[in-house]
Amino acid sequence: MAEKRNIFLIGPMGAGKSTIGRQIAQQLGMEFFDSDQEIEKRTGADIAWIFDLEGEEGFRVREEKVINELTEKQGVVLATGGGSILSKETRNRLSARGIVVYLETTIEKQMSRTQKDKRRPLLQGANTPRSRYEELAKERNPLYDEIADITIKTDEQSAKGVASYIIEQIEQI
Ligand code: S3P
Repeated sequence: MAEKRNIFLIGPMGAGKSTIGRQIAQQLGMEFFDSDQEIEKRTGADIAWIFDLEGEEGFRVREEKVINELTEKQGVVLATGGGSILSKETRNRLSARGIVVYLETTIEKQMSRTQKDKRRPLLQGANTPRSRYEELAKERNPLYDEIADITIKTDEQSAKGVASYIIEQIEQI
């Protein structure tokens, strides 16, 4: 039964993981989680503050722990932080515990969606050069590819359209 399997969304910042994840959860009547939100809820601190206090390394430890716990649940949709797949343990857990959906996007779209954002300390809002996105993509895209069961481009369709397509694909696996 497709509805009972976990669905994990991976991909870069600005790919639409949270919006599309919410849509999928709503359409299938599943519970939705977002790893960043869960970290903020548990710590009472926002992501930028955690990066300031503990550095990226400290944030990654929290992220790995939260994703480990959330992926142990059943029948959930989880939007993961864009850098979570840097952890081999996390990649293994996502692969083993659910269907991994890679949301691909162009750097142009990513730039326009993340420009006004202060929540992403690895970027500098509107001042982030294209080369920064390229650098992250070079390191991470092979890791997204490595664990993806389904890959979909999110640029040309609405979140609802992408969510419906993903549900159709999952039913065929
Ligand atoms: C990060 C992505 C962010 C957040 C943090 C680090 C990354 O999540 O976890 O700012 O390393 O790509 P989103 O992918 O939801 O923006």
